[in-house]
Amino acid sequence: MQKLPEFELHTVDGYIETIYLAVYRDRVLLLDCGCSSDVARIVSYLDGLGRPMESIALAVASHAHPDHLGGAHILQQKYRIKVAAPARINSWYPGTGGFIQHRIDTMLAQTVARSNGRKREAIGYPRSLALDFPLREGDPLPFFADWVIVETPGHTNHDIVLYHPATSLLYAADVMIKVGKQFVLPIPVVAAEEQHLSFDKLKALSVRYLALAHRGLQPVEAFSDIIDSLQNQLHPITTASLRVRTARALQSFSPALRAMKKAK
Ligand SMILES: [Fe+2]
Repeated sequence: MQKLPEFELHTVDGYIETIYLAVYRDRVLLLDCGCSSDVARIVSYLDGLGRPMESIALAVASHAHPDHLGGAHILQQKYRIKVAAPARINSWYPGTGGFIQHRIDTMLAQTVARSNGRKREAIGYPRSLALDFPLREGDPLPFFADWVIVETPGHTNHDIVLYHPATSLLYAADVMIKVGKQFVLPIPVVAAEEQHLSFDKLKALSVRYLALAHRGLQPVEAFSDIIDSLQNQLHPITTASLRVRTARALQSFSPALRAMKKAK
């Protein structure tokens, strides 16, 4: 747990990702929704803090992947929690192509869980979300106007991250991951040019704390150097490892991605 001036930032070890709870005096912000099987972990963690699930005023899903959107429907339907997500989140999995993409992404999530030594859990979830709050660039977050939305497409067509200027904290979701001491690109990057522009936007932010979905909270000293390194990794992306190239090739079923490629 990191004590910041305005809230405590708690982390929950999810099935394959880190889930963050920004715990304010009178309410809680959930970043992100985790896999569907992670909702029980969130309930249990909050219970340990002596807070009911109803204290979550808002849950954010940064993008449509199983470890970010998976828990959203249970949070909405079982616990009546409002969910905010990118306005375009439902463009990722519609139709037959979306059905195939959704199955592939769920399978990839299970592969990550297995490689992390996790016992298999059921992580099925609906392909679309009834958005309580669609989020767009520069919007303040509903109920938490101290956070700002930054659109960061590249990993999907609709990723967002959340910036908290007062504490210089960036919830970076899947815009980058950390392996050992190195910050590396998310797997996959489906649109390198968009990802580069997303990094340009992040470089303009003052960031002292980086909350990653796949490595926990990282204090940082030279954030712009991290972004420079990530941008440098984008350009030889076609020579990336077989695993990265395979993951990228497996994203070709999303109708949104096909539309992006057609438009170029
Ligand atoms: Fe993702």
